[in-house]
Amino acid sequence: MKLLLFIICQIVSATSTLNVHDKMYTQLNAVTPCIVRLNGSQSFGCTSERNGNVGVIHIVYNDSDWKWVLDSERTDSYVIVLFLKNFTLNNLQKLNNSEQINGVLLIQEESNNCCKEFSFSPEDVCPNRYSGLAAPNINKEVCTDHEPWNPLTDFSYISMHKWRIPIFFSNDKDTIMQIEDCFRKFNLPLSTQLDRALCALKMSAHMFGSVDSTTCIRRSSARYNINPVRYCDPLGDENVYVPIIPFDKFKNLNRDYVIVAARLDSTSLFYGLASGSLSTATSLVALLLTANLLFNLTQNNNRRHFKKNVLFILFNGEAYDYIGSSRVVYDIENGQFPFKEKPINMDDISLFVELSQLRNDTFTTYHTYHSADKNVTRFINIFNKFSKMRNFSVNLNSIESERLPPSSFQNFIAKANISGFIFSSYSRVFKNKYYHSLFDNNANVNYKYLNETDIANDTLQAFIANFATVFAYSLFNEITEQDADVNVSEIISYRMADELLHCYIDTTDCKFFADTGFDVMSLLTSKLDYYVGVTLVRNRITTLTKLALMYLTGKYISASNRDDCASKSNMAYWLSGTSKCLESAVNVSDAVSPAFIIPEYDLSEGKYSSWTESSWLQTDIRMFLKPSSKYEWLVFIIGMFVISTSFVTLFWLKHNARELFNYPHLITASSL
Ligand SMILES: *[C@@H]1O[C@H](CO)[C@@H](O)[C@H](O)[C@H]1NC(C)=O
Ligand SMILES: *[C@@H]1O[C@H](CO)[C@@H](O)[C@H](O)[C@H]1NC(C)=O
Ligand SMILES: *[C@@H]1O[C@H](CO)[C@@H](O)[C@H](O)[C@H]1NC(C)=O
Ligand SMILES: *[C@@H]1O[C@H](CO)[C@@H](O)[C@H](O)[C@H]1NC(C)=O
Ligand SMILES: *[C@@H]1O[C@H](CO)[C@@H](O)[C@H](O)[C@H]1NC(C)=O
Ligand SMILES: *[C@@H]1O[C@H](CO)[C@@H](O)[C@H](O)[C@H]1NC(C)=O
Ligand SMILES: *[C@@H]1O[C@H](CO)[C@@H](O)[C@H](O)[C@H]1NC(C)=O
Ligand SMILES: *[C@@H]1O[C@H](CO)[C@@H](O)[C@H](O)[C@H]1NC(C)=O
Ligand SMILES: *[C@@H]1O[C@H](CO)[C@@H](O)[C@H](O)[C@H]1NC(C)=O
Ligand SMILES: *[C@@H]1O[C@H](CO)[C@@H](O)[C@H](O)[C@H]1NC(C)=O
Ligand SMILES: *[C@@H]1O[C@H](CO)[C@@H](O)[C@H](O)[C@H]1NC(C)=O
Ligand SMILES: *[C@@H]1O[C@H](CO)[C@@H](O)[C@H](O)[C@H]1NC(C)=O
Repeated sequence: MKLLLFIICQIVSATSTLNVHDKMYTQLNAVTPCIVRLNGSQSFGCTSERNGNVGVIHIVYNDSDWKWVLDSERTDSYVIVLFLKNFTLNNLQKLNNSEQINGVLLIQEESNNCCKEFSFSPEDVCPNRYSGLAAPNINKEVCTDHEPWNPLTDFSYISMHKWRIPIFFSNDKDTIMQIEDCFRKFNLPLSTQLDRALCALKMSAHMFGSVDSTTCIRRSSARYNINPVRYCDPLGDENVYVPIIPFDKFKNLNRDYVIVAARLDSTSLFYGLASGSLSTATSLVALLLTANLLFNLTQNNNRRHFKKNVLFILFNGEAYDYIGSSRVVYDIENGQFPFKEKPINMDDISLFVELSQLRNDTFTTYHTYHSADKNVTRFINIFNKFSKMRNFSVNLNSIESERLPPSSFQNFIAKANISGFIFSSYSRVFKNKYYHSLFDNNANVNYKYLNETDIANDTLQAFIANFATVFAYSLFNEITEQDADVNVSEIISYRMADELLHCYIDTTDCKFFADTGFDVMSLLTSKLDYYVGVTLVRNRITTLTKLALMYLTGKYISASNRDDCASKSNMAYWLSGTSKCLESAVNVSDAVSPAFIIPEYDLSEGKYSSWTESSWLQTDIRMFLKPSSKYEWLVFIIGMFVISTSFVTLFWLKHNARELFNYPHLITASSL
């Protein structure tokens, strides 16, 4: 009897230490998951099991560590920790195919210049391969695997696959140290792992959306679904635009429009880390500055008499099969853009200029679709003239080919014969080593905020300022057919370019956004993320850019307070920060794919962007000590022993109850 009690006590204490072990979780901060996105016929990205994936940590420092993972017969499941150099498509596929691998964590501090030697773009080598001019109903070949726009590397296509396992990223020094410490302390040496408790990770990133957009949208809206669960949501946001002459005041008979476009979004494999400096920010800032100067140059003229109007527009969601621009084209075709009352037609567009991946470079390329397009040639000649006048040494190379780079322009040219071109820093292949990745940051564009100190003329700031200045004068000439006073002092200063680049490349907690006077303090968390996100949520970048464009192109009108301001004009905004009233023609339009507004549209058709983002409840990583498998077996065996002994004991008690307790009438078979 005493022996039995002793065993029971031992077991209770053993299981309780097990429980304590189990609960010793450390939540790892500063980790970012890869999530699931879906198009009309497939899903992409990463997911964990519903309750998370557990695996013993194994950090791959060298090739023998790697061999150990794949060659050995292990009983445990592992989470593999990789550095960027080994985070290749090939390696990930091997891990994905190995049943013992339960997750992958990429750790890489950016500070130590880790990544200069790599070109890390997990994107397709032909971004937006199936849309724009390549859409099924147009079917022009603009990119092939043999002649890609985004160079092929060992990391290409990672974003274009569906992974069975969760993949996380951390660049946080402390987090990385915690993981490495725990690994060294508990998991090394590898040869004796069987006997010990091991350091493990539990990765939770369960994605509800699966199969494809068609399936998950149908499930989300299923009529039999009493309590509708959203499995996925369409990607999208708003396009931001401003015409130099308000639409209702532009009465010229020819109704010519020059469209100046850039994109407002970028993306990345890891959620919330779309830094987009070269893919988005530099061109976006160049557009904002150009608009600012062009509005200033035309301030004193009567704009209504201009022969042409200029429409500055920032397209959103372009990373996902041109959501924004395909919607604008769709709206134009349906007489809905910008509004029903004053629609723009395709024929009204006499020139389309797009800015794409601009950077400090003496060589800038312009890509045209039709050779010897007179409208383009004329504009380029003007640009060269002003460029010389400003001593802005840019060599413009022309690429005339039907192989247009990925661009919003593709959607326009697919529908109408429009003159246009794309200004870019690349000619036949991107110079961006980190296209659509988290390393497309300030280092990628060689940018350093100079905070009102002297700015040299060979910096990115100078390049963008000079470019915007020359571009604005060229546009002025284009719409007025007269030269602006090239000797006027109105130019974009390097400092102004510096302040805007700082906001769009480093942090939104910056001087320029603060100076606008908009009541956006709540928006001023420093996080920069160019990912378009789902239509239900406004992206911060969109809101801030709309305000920035208002500030840069609006004019102050006198008003004493908010109500007074609102009564002066329907385009007036009260700036609570500076107590001023700003009148501006900036507006937004839906950047939601036509696929989600056309009734009964078949999302698998591929004519319009069909991208959705999976929903999820939580994503996190916890670190804990996992008891050794020997220990777990021991607990299991003891457990089985307890169960069987208790049955035996019970049986024995039942049979001997009379002798043991002397209460014969209380114990009966039915009460047991
Ligand atoms: C979804 O993506 C896959 C792979 O990139 C492509 O083959 C397919 O055509 C796309 N489907 C749609 C509807 O866009
Ligand atoms: C590889 O790294 C492990 C530590 O993770 C170390 O024990 C081993 O000696 C290294 N092997 C080589 C060949 O450097
Ligand atoms: C990991 O990266 C290093 C450095 O590029 C390389 O030498 C090694 O072969 C890679 N190992 C694997 C398994 O990819
Ligand atoms: C990963 O594994 C899953 C399930 O085995 C498979 O469906 C998927 O295609 C694999 N992904 C890649 C990129 O190999
Ligand atoms: C070129 O510009 C003129 C007006 O400046 C316009 O009428 C014509 O349609 C444009 N050409 C093309 C191909 O867009
Ligand atoms: C351009 O350079 C010439 C000759 O060096 C100089 O005279 C002129 O002032 C410069 N123009 C500008 C806008 O800096
Ligand atoms: C489009 O315009 C270009 C140049 O103006 C011309 O060469 C081409 O034939 C036109 N294409 C069509 C389909 O009208
Ligand atoms: C810029 O300079 C000002 C004044 O010298 C300083 O207060 C501010 O902290 C600096 N900002 C940054 C981001 O370095
Ligand atoms: C920068 O200034 C120097 C000296 O004034 C001049 O020689 C050089 O051409 C300028 N560089 C650029 C890119 O404007
Ligand atoms: C800018 O570009 C010029 C010419 O390509 C180069 O000489 C200069 O070093 C670059 N400056 C920076 C800051 O990258
Ligand atoms: C500047 O432009 C004005 C008007 O075009 C002209 O009268 C003046 O002479 C110019 N000044 C210089 C210094 O070139
Ligand atoms: C445009 O005009 C505003 C107000 O007059 C001025 O503050 C701003 O510096 C001007 N911008 C440029 C690029 O000249």
